[in-house]
Amino acid sequence: MRIAVLGTGYVGLSTGVCLSEVGHHVICIDVDQQKINRLRQGISPIYEPGLESLLLKNTAAGKLHFTTSHQEGLEKAEIIIIAVGTPQSNDGAADLSYLVQAAKDVSAHLKPDAIVVIKSTVPVGTNDYVRSIIANHTKKPFKMVSNPEFLRQGSAIKDTMKADRIIIGSEDNEAALKIQEMYRPLNVPVLMTNVKSAEMIKYASNAFLATKISFINEIANLCEAVGANIIDVANGMGKDKRIGEAFLQAGIGYGGSCFPKDVKALLHTAGQYGVDFSLLKETISINESQRQLLVKKALERFQQLKGKKFAMLGLSFKPDTDDMREAPSIVISRLLHQAGAEVIAYDPVATENAKKVIGNTIQYAESVEEAIKNADALLLVTEWEEFKKLDLAEVTKQMKQPIIFDGRNSLAEDKIRACSKIEYYPVGKPSIVIN
Ligand SMILES: NC(=O)c1ccc[n+]([C@@H]2O[C@H](COP(=O)([O-])OP(=O)(O)OC[C@H]3O[C@@H](n4cnc5c(N)ncnc54)[C@H](O)[C@@H]3O)[C@@H](O)[C@H]2O)c1
Repeated sequence: MRIAVLGTGYVGLSTGVCLSEVGHHVICIDVDQQKINRLRQGISPIYEPGLESLLLKNTAAGKLHFTTSHQEGLEKAEIIIIAVGTPQSNDGAADLSYLVQAAKDVSAHLKPDAIVVIKSTVPVGTNDYVRSIIANHTKKPFKMVSNPEFLRQGSAIKDTMKADRIIIGSEDNEAALKIQEMYRPLNVPVLMTNVKSAEMIKYASNAFLATKISFINEIANLCEAVGANIIDVANGMGKDKRIGEAFLQAGIGYGGSCFPKDVKALLHTAGQYGVDFSLLKETISINESQRQLLVKKALERFQQLKGKKFAMLGLSFKPDTDDMREAPSIVISRLLHQAGAEVIAYDPVATENAKKVIGNTIQYAESVEEAIKNADALLLVTEWEEFKKLDLAEVTKQMKQPIIFDGRNSLAEDKIRACSKIEYYPVGKPSIVIN
């Protein structure tokens, strides 16, 4: 099939690359000339495991193209997938301005009878709204399908190729079947529904997962207070099939480009319809407080943070991505800076992006060794594999004080116990102090 994808971000690029890999002819359109230039050279503008090799392979095979021209991208496309950003606006609602522009771009150049697929995460009612925008700008017939995306950054290619499910929402059976056909080579279970339910499935899923994280974080805080161990508690809970083991890792809160904004957007939608979704308000407030946890723990330990030097390991909101959107490291950097502390941070891939968001209120190191040198404490913020493999006995020797606050419970206990001197403060389980 001839497919156009609008937006070459995490979702659009992963989708475009995977659809070309399974045999479709894909053209990806983006308004960002720099991104398109890099993509044409076979360079991925985002860090995503496995993406670049598929990009090179399918570009070379002539199945994958990139352009900044909506006309060139849309004129032959029988399916148009919109995957532009829907960030959060000031009042918590989803900002649909990119989507509205994309709808206008589509209406200017679409081929008659094309199917317009909305993959961006959009509040209930948005597909209808986009339909009206396109219809107001063109006389050509077209069809609409809602097809929300569930991939996770850091495993976007795997998640697209081996998704748990594909949701197809449409009031037009023929269009829905064509999109099902487009995905057939992936061999993933498909759920057909109406447009509003498809839109809601996406928000309900993300809000549920975010709530699961806030729930386990509150249990972790309670575990600390009563002397229980969150690892055993989560393990014991997760063995119950009704609960499941995923998303029960206590830590310093969720971040990223989706959970924070999607929970707020769902709460906003609830408000618009007069539904008081108070559970979501708690999910958000627990998360905001959890992001401050390491700083609170450090304050408890040091009494005052002025002049203290912190090595921060990890900047991205989670491992295997360079995405800094809503990363807990932003809040931690701000609080430590306000308290007069010095922060020197290291991340395997997110440093350049972090500099744009956090700026020069902290320093950036090129290696773990550089970050930890003479530090009063180490804050483990993102659970990169590289950090799990650290020789803690050596690390603590390089620090001024052998104090570690592990915001992700990611350091192995035997490595901690192998240190001759250490103070180790995890989340939701007893600290380990070896003098
Ligand atoms: N990132 C994720 O993990 C994820 C997962 C599932 C769903 N989503 C949803 O998917 C959507 C896209 O997310 P993302 O993270 O890929 O966004 P992103 O910000 O990384 O990328 C969006 C891209 O769209 C481009 N763009 C904007 N307007 C355009 C236009 N008119 N024509 C062509 N290109 C245009 C931008 O230049 C940018 O490159 C959002 O609604 C998001 O909530 C994201």
